[in-house]
Formats: sequence, structure tokens, C-alpha cells
Amino acid sequence: MFFKAYYALVIKGHIQNDQSVFIYYGDDVTSLAAISICLRMGCQVYITVKSEELKDFLLRRFPNIEPSDISSSISVSFMGTIRRRTNEKGVDIMMGILSKALVNKLVQCLAKHGHFIYISNDDLSCGDIDLNTYNCILEKSIIFHLIKLSDVFESNDVRNHIYNLLNDGISKGIVVPLPKKIYSDFEVQKAWDDLNSTINHTEKVLIKIRDESPKILAKPDRTIKALPTLYFCENGVYIIIGGLGGFGLVLADFLISRGARKIVLNSRRGLSSIYQSYCLKKWSLIKDLTVKISNDDSSNREGAEKLVKFSETLGSIKGIFNTATVLIDGLFVNQTADNFKRALQPKIYSCYNMDRISKERCPYVQYFVAISSVTSGRGNPGQTNYGMGNSAIERLCEKRRKDGLHALAIQFGPIKDVGLVADSEDNDKALRVAGMTPQAIDTCISSLEQFILQDLTIAASYVIEKQGSAASNSGKKSAVEMVSAILGVKNIDSMDPTRSLSQMGLDSLMASDIKQTLLRNYNIDISIDSIKSLTFDEIAKFAV
Ligand SMILES: NC(=O)c1ccc[n+]([C@@H]2O[C@H](COP(=O)([O-])OP(=O)(O)OC[C@H]3O[C@@H](n4cnc5c(N)ncnc54)[C@H](OP(=O)(O)O)[C@@H]3O)[C@@H](O)[C@H]2O)c1
Repeated sequence: MFFKAYYALVIKGHIQNDQSVFIYYGDDVTSLAAISICLRMGCQVYITVKSEELKDFLLRRFPNIEPSDISSSISVSFMGTIRRRTNEKGVDIMMGILSKALVNKLVQCLAKHGHFIYISNDDLSCGDIDLNTYNCILEKSIIFHLIKLSDVFESNDVRNHIYNLLNDGISKGIVVPLPKKIYSDFEVQKAWDDLNSTINHTEKVLIKIRDESPKILAKPDRTIKALPTLYFCENGVYIIIGGLGGFGLVLADFLISRGARKIVLNSRRGLSSIYQSYCLKKWSLIKDLTVKISNDDSSNREGAEKLVKFSETLGSIKGIFNTATVLIDGLFVNQTADNFKRALQPKIYSCYNMDRISKERCPYVQYFVAISSVTSGRGNPGQTNYGMGNSAIERLCEKRRKDGLHALAIQFGPIKDVGLVADSEDNDKALRVAGMTPQAIDTCISSLEQFILQDLTIAASYVIEKQGSAASNSGKKSAVEMVSAILGVKNIDSMDPTRSLSQMGLDSLMASDIKQTLLRNYNIDISIDSIKSLTFDEIAKFAV
């Protein structure tokens, strides 16, 4: 409370000794701190309160205040009091926990060059101020301050300044314990409800975890269970590479729902679907939200630099999320160097560039998150280049952590609802990650939140396929269909059924996947070596 009061009065309002200060709603606990500061500086304080009872409370707490300096906030008679007591000059500083509607009235109480300090959860916009008030502000050269504590935490200088003021205040007896109401750790909900209720806030709300202890504890001897929630900074910029893809759009929605207000969606092609346009239209209706699209290709250094510079025009970059991907699956024998390069570009090339450039230009990014795949952790037939790209970004994340920077790579299994698997015409693709069933996108996002909160570097989120569940419908397919799906062969009729699987590009991962599939569905236990020499003619003889 003193922290907020010092920030408002000293850093923003530049309060001087012997000035006049009007505190609207003096019965709030922050106002109690502000009154203490003002009185110690010899300022004349005028206060409004909601009831006679609260007026008595203030007079008991601050015996130096004259009863006539405290007015009721229920009527506007306080305006007359202030005019009279300041000889029509008005006060030097006006501070209050206000509703927007009051701003127009209270500006009238200010002197020339006065400071109006607005503390509220409601953002004030130009539309909330009427023409007379504008004229009054201009004529009197009034300075407006919106108090947002989040701003304090962005500047070391301001934080240090307040720290010194608090220390000085404690030694001079200005900063003293404020009235408090103590709740037990079983009453967190009640404490929260009371804090948000309209009842008087003359008491700080405290949760008691343990008794006071004279000794300084190295670690808390008791903690309470709480479910943390991730919030994003409204002034920070969040870049989502691959942001117009299935995962990227849902991630953007999540960031917005948790307070982010400046988002850059990066994709090479830009808008290319009706759904993407719908999302942008939907977001355009949210006040103060800026969502920009950048088409720079972050997989090359120049494009990544342009992306960062473009994002910086909106504010300081607080988060970089890489959800970009290009799938070029196929049997290893059919892969080319160019295929590998194209699959690696949105993964390691983009992450590497963003890592390098962010270290130079915005080293304090709070979140550097790369979306990987279980293909990296456990492999998946036909996805050698994809697996390599994902594995490489995970190693980059480990390196960033060693350098003391944030990094998180999440290996997801197949995702339901959106993204490359959901969009795939090949419905079997999702089931090609053996033993897994697609995970709902909302639980993928909850996993992402939990992993960030747990401060992990590499994490995995996937749903294990239930034996005999509808998802494990592979039992309904013939052995040939299942094996060809594992090999990545789309057209079974085009295959020569007499060729062995190893002649068709079988690799060790595919072989172990086929082994598991045959065991699970046909109870046939066959060695890896035997699988290599199997032909489709032989596989066709397995029971359906
Ligand atoms: N969907 C799944 O089942 C699944 C499973 C496991 C892991 N993942 C991972 O989840 C992430 C999101 O995948 P998704 O399903 O949302 O894929 P998606 O819908 O295909 O979206 C990927 C996006 O990446 C963009 N992109 C490709 N190269 C880029 C580049 N160089 N720069 C910027 N953007 C680029 C593409 O847009 P442009 O073509 O316009 O550039 C595309 O919209 C990926 O990292 C993927 O590996 C997905």
C-alpha cells in the first residue's frame, strides 16, 4: 500500500512539502498510506469518506486532521469545501480510487499545474472525458497520471527509488503497519471475495500461513496449496512464428485471454484461409488489442531481424513462441538433402535466428517456447527430418537454459481439432504415432501453461491410446493396411507384394512399430530380423 502511495504521490505527482492534496475515498487502505505520507510532509489534506463511521475512524487514526477537512463522498458538497478552503485556487494534487464518471467533476477541484492521479481497475480513455473537462485540463495545464503497478516493475530505477523511500519512511515512522484483517489459509476464497466486495477497505487482507517467528527462516516452513495461473504483460509484445497455423491461432487466443495486448503472428504466406480472417475480425473487436501479421521468413537471418524490428515498433518483446512447421514425410530412402533443409527451416533455422537476435536486441524475453513433437523423443516412421528438426530445437533450449535464459520445448503427440494432423486428408496420420491418440487442443494449451509455470526446459504432453478403445480402431484394419500405414505407403495397389519390407525402405523404428502392431492386434510375436524379410503377400495371410 505504501509502495503504491509513494509511487503515486512522489514519483508521479512530484509532491512537495506544504502542498494541498485531495484524497477521494480516504477510507481505502492505500489512501491511509497516502494520508500518512502527506501529513508528514506538512501538506494540507482534504478527504472524502463514505460514512460518518469512517470519518470517525480517520479522525482517530490521524488526530491532526480537522473534522471539517473530511467531507462525505455521497454528495458533491466537497467541491464547495475545497473551493472555499483553497480560496478558489484548487488543490495541487488530486488522488483517488475512482470511477470514470467522477473524473469530470474532480478535475474542477485542481489548481493550475495540478496533478490528477487516477487509480482504478478501469482503464480511462479519451471518450470518458467530456469537452468541459478537456478545456479545464488545457486551461489549467493539469497533468494526468494513470497508476499501473505493472509499470513499476518494468523499471529498475523506479523500483529502487521506491525501495529507498520505503526504507526512509520506515526509519522516520511514516511507514507503519496498516489496519489488517487476517484470514486463515482455509479462507482464501472468503478473503478474495471480501477484497472484491464493495464493503469498506480500511483493512489490508492477509492470509496467515504460520505464526510470527523471530528467527529468519531460510525457507518457508509451511506453504499453502495453490494453482498458479499464467498472465501476460499488456505492454509486452508476443511473437508467434507460424502464428497463422492451427496451433498458433489457438495460442494467440490463449495469450489474449491472459492479458497480452500486442501480438505479432508470423507466417510466410500471410492470410490464406477464411478461419484466419475470422480470428482477426474477432480480435479486432477487443479494445486496445493489436494483432499484426508479419510475412518475414525467420528461417533466414535477414527475415528474422526484420521480424524482431517490426515487433519492436509495438513495444518491448516479452515472448517468442515458435509453432512453425513444414512436414515433408517419407521413407528415408526417398528423402533428399533439400527435403531435410525445408523441414528444418521453420524449426532449427528459425529458432536459432530468433535466439541469436533476441540475445542481442531483447535479452530479457520472458518466454522462449518452441513447439516440438514426440517424434523427437521416441521417433516416428517416415519423419526423420521432422524428428531431427524438433530434436535440434530442444538442444537449443537446453543451451539457452545453461546461459541463464528462458527456454521451453514441448513434445506434443498428435493434436486433435486443429493443425497439421486435423487438417490432413490422410485420416490415419494421427494414428501413425503408435500407441497415442490425438490430444484435444485445449488440454495442449493447459499443458503449455503448466510447463511454463513449472519452469521446465523439455516437457512432453500426449494421450496414451487406451487398449480396445475406439481410438485404437487399428484392429479393424487388415494387417496389410496397418503395415503400409507405418511405411507411409498411400496406395497399397501400387506395391509389389513379393518385395521384402527392407527393400521398401523399412527402418529400425518402423520395424519396431510393426512388431508392436502385430503383437497387439494379432498376437504374433515376430523378431525384427524376420520383419525385415517379410513381404506383403505373407502379411496378407495374417488373420483380419
Ligand atoms: N498438429 C499436430 O498434431 C502436432 C503434433 C505434434 C507437434 N506439433 C507441432 O505443433 C506446432 C504447430 O503445428 P500445427 O499443427 O499448428 O501446424 P500447421 O497448422 O501446419 O501450422 C504451421 C504453420 O507454420 C507456418 N510456417 C512454416 N514455415 C514457416 C516459417 N519459416 N516462418 C513462419 N511460419 C512458417 C505455416 O504457415 P506459412 O506456410 O504461411 O508460413 C503454417 O501455418 C509445430 O511445431 C508442430 O511441429 C503439431
